[in-house]
Amino acid sequence: MSQLNTKHLLGIKNLQPNEIELIFETADNFKDVLNRPIKKVPSLRDITIANVFFENSTRTRLSFELAEKRLSADVINFSSSSSSVKKGETLLDTVNNILAMKVDMVVMRHSSPGAPHFLARHIDANIVNAGDGTHEHPTQALLDTYSIREKLGDVAGKKVVIVGDILHSRVALSNIFALQKLGAEVMVCGPPTLLPKHIKELGVKVELDIKKALEWCEVANILRIQLERQKMAYFPSLREYSQYYGVNKAMLDSLKNPITIMHPGPINRGVEITSDVADSDHAIILQQVENGVAIRMAVLYLLAGITS
Ligand code: CP
Repeated sequence: MSQLNTKHLLGIKNLQPNEIELIFETADNFKDVLNRPIKKVPSLRDITIANVFFENSTRTRLSFELAEKRLSADVINFSSSSSSVKKGETLLDTVNNILAMKVDMVVMRHSSPGAPHFLARHIDANIVNAGDGTHEHPTQALLDTYSIREKLGDVAGKKVVIVGDILHSRVALSNIFALQKLGAEVMVCGPPTLLPKHIKELGVKVELDIKKALEWCEVANILRIQLERQKMAYFPSLREYSQYYGVNKAMLDSLKNPITIMHPGPINRGVEITSDVADSDHAIILQQVENGVAIRMAVLYLLAGITS
């Protein structure tokens, strides 16, 4: 396989396993480039990319921008907080105005699930979903599974638990799809109020006891509690959440086998994970961030070749 079957990357759900493998193999090449003294290639010269962020971001926005610059694309950045969206402009008008400036690709983050899918139906540019509300975050899942492949040699057959606020997490849904397509076994663990009612229909195991979940897995992906998306109290207090579901060093030391710790960021230290775990040799959190640039270079490079 030498190209993707899609012009947009809207989610993991509709990607085929061999498309994910193609993205990984392309990322391997770009990772080699990123480790050279000259980290730039001319692959996307004359391509213009708009990073359109309607929601806050540190890692994803910087990682996409760096990936685009390493590929020699021309880059423009849009942030809704300092834009005419504040004056009442619609999403479609905003993006059409950006496209009128001859933009080829749009990387978009939005708080509404389905916002990038809506854009893809109405405009010609390639769209990359950089996170749509509680729905999907495809490049995060790609960099997470790529990091597991790098650390453990393969994703197939591995046992991965996703811990925490599954209900509000786009990272969880995209990771479940990606891990299953690559042949991993997936468990989710968290308080019952933060687990979607029909989660078992996705073919995942459910465990409410964090110690049993960590004993079962080879990799634990710890998620942040997304207080900004919670419209009611799902647990009594952050202190209580941390007491029952926070991952700490004593817990890891008590396991029969060592496990790999992941976190998509941003971390709430002392809530879902303690600093001595986040900063330990078991954690690959910064390797995930490093791999994000190579994965996003691969996605942009592969999509840029598809115009219809
Ligand atoms: N992991 C992630 O999406 O982080 P940001 O919200 O900082 O982009």
